[in-house]
Amino acid sequence: MHIIARNIYIRNTKMTVKKRLKKDPTELSHALKANLLRRKNSKSKEINPNFSNQIVILGSSNSSGKTKEAVSSLVNKKTTIIDLQTLNISYYDYANKNSNDDYLPLIEKSLEHDLIILATPVYWYSMCAQMKTFIDRISDLTSIRKDLGRKLRGKKLFVIASFDTSLPKSFEAPFSQTCEYLGIKYEGCSFIYGGNDIELIKNNVFEIEKAKRVIEN
Ligand SMILES: Cc1cc2nc3c(=O)[nH]c(=O)nc-3n(C[C@H](O)[C@H](O)[C@H](O)COP(=O)(O)O)c2cc1C
Repeated sequence: MHIIARNIYIRNTKMTVKKRLKKDPTELSHALKANLLRRKNSKSKEINPNFSNQIVILGSSNSSGKTKEAVSSLVNKKTTIIDLQTLNISYYDYANKNSNDDYLPLIEKSLEHDLIILATPVYWYSMCAQMKTFIDRISDLTSIRKDLGRKLRGKKLFVIASFDTSLPKSFEAPFSQTCEYLGIKYEGCSFIYGGNDIELIKNNVFEIEKAKRVIEN
């Protein structure tokens, strides 16, 4: 969204958010509860049939942490969420001795979907290690399984990142450039704030809308 349009949007929603925060600052501590509520009350029940044609690959050291919470509030209940922690996926190996681990089946599963959503917390200004391993292993798709790599062309990728201190610089570059390399359409990233800073909580409204535009269309 253009920056002016974004500012107008934030200004228009500011009053509602302000009122709610005044009432109970913890209510919107994540701003995601508000999203869930809005969805529940939403009159627009017309959900694009492709809405469920998406898969979430969740990387986090906490399988039921803030990143998972953000994902659950944003995606359709029917959406498959794959937790990297539950799979056996080892670091990239130049000799590809790990080609029988869970990575290639995960890629095959992902290829059944139009939109691939990568969800990761921000750990030290970057993606978490589980997600980085997932990304590194894309090299398998440019060497031993080029056939799978080619099938990624034309897919869409969106990133959900949870954070609680400050927005990292250049966080999106590894995702957007990887997409460019593979011919995937990079749809952007929503940075979902999980802390208590009111200004950043307000910004979640914009980030949630950004995610919804991609996920629900
Ligand atoms: C090892 C580690 C490093 C972190 N580094 C950052 C950081 O650089 N910037 C930030 O905003 N938050 C940082 N955080 C906070 C997490 O991004 C935040 O709490 C996130 O919502 C946690 O998601 P999770 O529950 O899925 O792990 C860090 C947390 C951990 C555990």
